[in-house]
Amino acid sequence: MTGRIVKSWLRDLALFAFYAAILTACIPLRETLGLPCAAFEFALPAGHRQPDQPQGVCITPERVTLGRHLFYSSKLSGNQKQSCSSCHQQQSAFADQQARSRGSTGQLHARNTPGLANTVFFDSLTWNNPALKRFDNQALIPFFSEDTPTTIEELAITGSEYQIIGRLTTDPVLAGLFARSFPGRDITITTAALALATFQTTLLSWRSPYDLNRQSEAARQGETLFRSERLNCVACHSGPDFNRSSASGLQEFANVGLYNVLGRGDYPDQALHGAAAGRASQGLFLVTGNPADRGKYRTPGLRNLAYTAPYMHDGSVQSLPELIEILQAGGRRITGGPLRGDGRLNPNKDPRIRPFTLSWQEKQQLLAFLLSLSDPCFVADPAFSDPSRPLPSMPTDCPLP
Ligand code: HEC
Ligand code: HEC
Repeated sequence: MTGRIVKSWLRDLALFAFYAAILTACIPLRETLGLPCAAFEFALPAGHRQPDQPQGVCITPERVTLGRHLFYSSKLSGNQKQSCSSCHQQQSAFADQQARSRGSTGQLHARNTPGLANTVFFDSLTWNNPALKRFDNQALIPFFSEDTPTTIEELAITGSEYQIIGRLTTDPVLAGLFARSFPGRDITITTAALALATFQTTLLSWRSPYDLNRQSEAARQGETLFRSERLNCVACHSGPDFNRSSASGLQEFANVGLYNVLGRGDYPDQALHGAAAGRASQGLFLVTGNPADRGKYRTPGLRNLAYTAPYMHDGSVQSLPELIEILQAGGRRITGGPLRGDGRLNPNKDPRIRPFTLSWQEKQQLLAFLLSLSDPCFVADPAFSDPSRPLPSMPTDCPLP
């Protein structure tokens, strides 16, 4: 009797193992054959827009876990001093508090670190490269970027790739996660970048007072101003993440008149304006070579601004009230120092940036609206946190998906 039970139990176990093996083998097979990925259950409420699976890799829970561990692992920098999370910090909505961050060897970046909420929905990545669309390709920049007039060493792994693979292979937790995520595949920088891509796809922010219809009356008034023809913000900041042009529905690059160094239309560049300027920062021009693109940067999303100060592509605006003053004036005038010049008169300034006047009360309302797009649940969600640290606790009124 007992023998029969044990036998049938063993048979079930064998069958289970057999099907589990087929299922696991299926994922790489799907990828090799270019078949669509099996659905992944994102932690989103019913009816919410769903992210596309990242290109080149199907999302599985194991890969997301691996990606999360790698995101926080300093084993992925040449000198083991930095991880992605050194610059992309959860409590800052995956931006940081710096105007411009330093890389693992101490060099100062030309640009401000953007947050990573809902990035999967963006048309292109980074401040000025319309062609950069895939997370796994983007990850190669922090891994391999070098000291040039426009870029810095970030994680600086060039030349230590084998050492890094060695570190990952000999870490029992990471090696186990790799084996379960990519069965039969070697641990490589490529698979690490793919796992990071799956984790970043899950960084979804949908619990701001704006999303949950919990805005204050002032924020509602501010939204009306934001959407008004007088302020014209929605001409560029429309759509669910406020980073799309209302005319084209696409992300656009615009010069908003932050600089006009020495009246020559320039944005700051060390080679032209000395050490005060940092690395070259002519925006889209650096990619297209078209002079009309000088000073054009991608319209950023406006979620989580409460956590991502300072602002703009170079972190040169400290606060939202300061930014509202600049927009109200139709650009920024810098009166002294090597970067002086009247940004309002920048020859490439977008015609949709035009001066307006707000009363003190209206400014408070606009500010309240911008802050109502910040998501206190996102910055404390344990699913996105450093797995080697105690889990953060979310505010008690955060809804579950
Ligand atoms: C030294 C600081 C630093 C480190 C380390 C770093 N980043 Fe970034 N990250 C930045 C900056 C600065 C930008 C903006 C770059 C630009 O626009 O040229 C950026 C941009 C991005 C973007 C594009 C976001 C958007 O809104 O388009 C993604 C995605 C990203 N980083 C992911 C990562 C990942 C993954 C890692 C680890 C492999 C990493 N970063 C490591 C500073 C850093
Ligand atoms: C012509 C398109 C355009 C219009 C109109 C526009 N913006 Fe922007 N906005 C941008 C671009 C582009 C940037 C980034 C510029 C840079 O970094 O050089 C930006 C940056 C911002 C930022 C900083 C975000 C961050 O994370 O650094 C905020 C906040 C903002 N805009 C709010 C507004 C408000 C409020 C209005 C209306 C009063 C407005 N914008 C009108 C294109 C626009």
